[in-house]
Amino acid sequence: MKFHIETWGCQMNDHDGEKLSGLLSAEGFEAVDSAEEAELVLLNTCSIREKAVHKVYSELGRLREEKQRRPLLVGVTGCLAQQEQAALFKRAPHVDFVLGTMALKQLPWLVAEARAGKARVMDAGEYPDNHLFPASVARRRDTAKALVTITEGCDHACTYCIVPTTRGAERHRPFQDVLAEVRGLVERGYREVELLGQNVNSYAGGCTFADLLDRVSEVDGLEWIRFTTSHPMNFTRDLAQVLATNPKIAPFLHLPLQSGSDRVLRRMRREYTIAEYLERLGYLGDHRARIALSTDLIVGFPGETDEDFEATMRVVDEVAFDTSFSFVYSPRPGTASLRLKDDLPPAVKSERLARLQRRQAELTLASNRRFVGREIPVRIETHGPTEHGWWLARSGDWKTIHLAAGPGRELPFGELVTVRIVQASPHFLGAELV
Ligand code: 5AD
Ligand code: SF4
Repeated sequence: MKFHIETWGCQMNDHDGEKLSGLLSAEGFEAVDSAEEAELVLLNTCSIREKAVHKVYSELGRLREEKQRRPLLVGVTGCLAQQEQAALFKRAPHVDFVLGTMALKQLPWLVAEARAGKARVMDAGEYPDNHLFPASVARRRDTAKALVTITEGCDHACTYCIVPTTRGAERHRPFQDVLAEVRGLVERGYREVELLGQNVNSYAGGCTFADLLDRVSEVDGLEWIRFTTSHPMNFTRDLAQVLATNPKIAPFLHLPLQSGSDRVLRRMRREYTIAEYLERLGYLGDHRARIALSTDLIVGFPGETDEDFEATMRVVDEVAFDTSFSFVYSPRPGTASLRLKDDLPPAVKSERLARLQRRQAELTLASNRRFVGREIPVRIETHGPTEHGWWLARSGDWKTIHLAAGPGRELPFGELVTVRIVQASPHFLGAELV
């Protein structure tokens, strides 16, 4: 049977897609590149904002038509599956099975039932060993960096966020398992890993997250370790110390701020004030200048006033984030913020978002310009030049590099090469081989 998995959303979901793909491959199924070629399509969904959910339903609509033309099994997994469970069958009756985010290993069984003709098969149970998924099963996409789960779930309770519902409470993988997986990946040629969790820095799999980073960094042959995502209140001095001083930890920190107003942060139940957030960044000390900072921001949270928004603009300026991801608040089912009065006109919200993003583009450009003329190591992320003639690469601080290698020149996929930065834009750095 030919299958295709379509994944939306975060790296955690990407990696779940790799695990699910591995499970089906182990059953003798064959992965294909498009839904058109597939006999089984699995939608690995995201529900962090309404827009993500719309995309899923629009794809489900397309698949309904396809299903009228030919035999096709359609399954839904990921956050929307966990959130909606059996209600998904009502809204999309052509869905054959629903698989929750904490029951990944049940996939072969669900597929077997659906193939046997059983309608509306579902498992959205919370299996306590879901996070202990055997490392060898994942069928990784052809990327230079390997994703490695260290924790699943989130024990925070931000009032806007659906994640604690869709991913459950925190579960941590024992550090020995993590180390064994990373060693195996390095043996297979990977030089870079990204440790994943909804909240990696609350890691408690037998050591602290700072310790885990140190231990992983001792794996011979590994060059860069990344991690995502972190909660500011779990960003400890020890972690800052490791990030600042261990040369194998890529110099990049994604620390979601969400808002620059203490009043809004309180209503979001983020558990910190702006002063505390800035204090945590201060843990990086003099190393701060060398470590690229990235953040997430929500504008138009219920009750956000002009002053609240101006406070966000001020903090963004003060910190001068290298990059930020910003979104208009999206009400999510079952979250606490639904009870807050949300009477801000949509036009005001989008105007605020546009202003914030314009300012961020200036800050990113200024940050990128500082690189021009410098020689830095970057990892080659494509097997050949793109249609525009340059290769894609990535620096340790997560800058996107467009590398002009010259015609006919072959570059080693997944390896580090030294380049000279010759051009800066808000979205990438142009580079030449040294
Ligand atoms: N509306 C808008 N943005 C959200 N995020 C999470 N939930 C919502 C929501 N309901 C954003 C946060 C988070 C990022 C992954 O998505 O900024 O850090
Ligand atoms: Fe959601 Fe992150 Fe808050 Fe957890 S810490 S509830 S994942 S925003």
